[in-house]
Amino acid sequence: MYTDKVMDHFENPRNVGEILNASGLGTVGNPKCGDIMRIYLDIDENQIIKDCKFKTFGCGAAIATSSVATEMVIGKTLNEAMLVTNKAVLEALDGLPEEKVHCSLLAEEAIRAALWDYAEKNNIKIEGLKKPKADLE
Ligand code: FES
Repeated sequence: MYTDKVMDHFENPRNVGEILNASGLGTVGNPKCGDIMRIYLDIDENQIIKDCKFKTFGCGAAIATSSVATEMVIGKTLNEAMLVTNKAVLEALDGLPEEKVHCSLLAEEAIRAALWDYAEKNNIKIEGLKKPKADLE
């Protein structure tokens, strides 16, 4: 049912935890199941994402998608991080069962909420980034 990549990230999730004084913090809820995802971004003065951590009250699919999404944004520019969509995350994991696809939305939305938080704090605009629907902060 789950691919080897999903199982690997579920059993050995990368970048779990928090970043003190994060440059950007995003917390979103999944309306379908009520689960919650929080993403912390550490962004340097050149606007490169140096570190990304996550915490979740979510299922295994949410853990796997967030784990791989954190790996995909570390080292990226803000615009490159915008390309880490749930579609890109699903591809990186070789897919999820149809009924678990909604779980992968949490990672994309939480990253974007954290980018929005950073953009607001630094008074910048990130191309294509919209105000998060439901940042729980
Ligand atoms: Fe809630 Fe997967 S069931 S995130």
